[in-house]
Amino acid sequence: MVYLQFKTQIMAQPVSGFSKMTKTEKIEWLSNSYFENDSKAIEVLKRYWNDDTSLQKLHDDFIENTITNYYLPFGVAPNFLINGILYTIPMVTEESSVVAAASNAAKFWLKRGGFKAEVISTEKNGQIHLDFFGDTTLLKQFFAETKPKLIESVEDIQKNMKQRGGGLLDITLIDSSDKLEGYYQLHCTFETLDAMGANFINSCLEEIARTFETLTHNYDGFKNENIYPEVVMSILSNYVPNCLVSASVECEINQLDQKDIKGKAFAEKFVRAVAIAKAETKRAVTHNKGIMNGIDAVVLATGNDFRAIEAGIHAFAGKEGNYSSLTDAKIDNGVFKFSIEIPLALGTVGGLTSLHPLSKFAFQLLQKPNAKELMKIVAVAGLAQNFGAIRSLVTTGIQKGHMKMHLMNILNQMEATSAEKEKAIIHFKENTVTHSDVIKFLENLRT
Ligand code: MEV
Repeated sequence: MVYLQFKTQIMAQPVSGFSKMTKTEKIEWLSNSYFENDSKAIEVLKRYWNDDTSLQKLHDDFIENTITNYYLPFGVAPNFLINGILYTIPMVTEESSVVAAASNAAKFWLKRGGFKAEVISTEKNGQIHLDFFGDTTLLKQFFAETKPKLIESVEDIQKNMKQRGGGLLDITLIDSSDKLEGYYQLHCTFETLDAMGANFINSCLEEIARTFETLTHNYDGFKNENIYPEVVMSILSNYVPNCLVSASVECEINQLDQKDIKGKAFAEKFVRAVAIAKAETKRAVTHNKGIMNGIDAVVLATGNDFRAIEAGIHAFAGKEGNYSSLTDAKIDNGVFKFSIEIPLALGTVGGLTSLHPLSKFAFQLLQKPNAKELMKIVAVAGLAQNFGAIRSLVTTGIQKGHMKMHLMNILNQMEATSAEKEKAIIHFKENTVTHSDVIKFLENLRT
């Protein structure tokens, strides 16, 4: 016999012209279709609207069909000494222990010389993906002859960028037919200076693609064979292995002595933990996720595209064929060395960076860095986060610090009063935080 479980399902009807409706009409439609006109659901949306109507309008216009704002905490991690400059790093994240861990790591390294960071390269890239099922030599010949015209075609688009010292760097034809039959690429490289460059690169690529197609139709070689290359698509790549930054810390191992562990033992365990993340994908993914806790938080605070950064960094972590740790650690002649090298295509102009009032604030807080400086800060945030995570993992375990930070979330879930919170904080300074123990503690207080 088959038992079926039924859940009452509201049957919404398809809607047309939704994007043209006013915000109020959209909310009314949602309320009707999915919330049985429950006023509470709508109230919560409105509670998150900003009283300043022009500020709300700015946020409404970021995307289509905005109905409210979704807050995430904007925190700061002070005491980051990077190349001798002291920064307070803005971080946007929902995870309780991230900012605390970053702040601890910053303070730890402040006393040990701080972080060093260096931009290795700043080249971005994009591809015009081509189909061609004719003679490769013909395509190569055509490309060699027309390359100057392809470059010329973006002169207008890149005028300003070139004046500032950036622009299209080169175009190469890549035969990728070993990967996919008939597949070739026009691989274009760019310097986009302080812009992340997505719009600039995509505009250049589309213009080059248009010129390429026009020229192919006038080329006798293709005409004679009656076989032409075709543009499939043109788009930047978020994989930027030549837009690299590194960050590092180092100190004598005896400077790593801590309350319950000697520096040497700590350093050895730490290095081993990184080696495990190098060797084992299951660990590498979580290890790198911890790094991204720091990176994404700064990328978000500065209005940059964290999905692009995530995609590019994870691809980089797998560049040797197996997914591995983004950080390295070693003990070299009694010196503990810990470092990271990652690709980061970041912008300090354009996009949301100068549009979102809080991104603007983040940039002011960081003393208006250019893209290269921001790359260093973000890489350091990733390294610091990884240091904090591994330090906990190889000593106290992660839960102690994490649950300490999570305590407030549990207390808020239980609608604890300020007096109850104060008592709970004192109690759990000495006792391990678990969800059930916090609930028991509150129940005892309340009886
Ligand atoms: C949690 O968000 C991140 C960690 O799991 C990272 C790690 O295990 O290295 C603590």
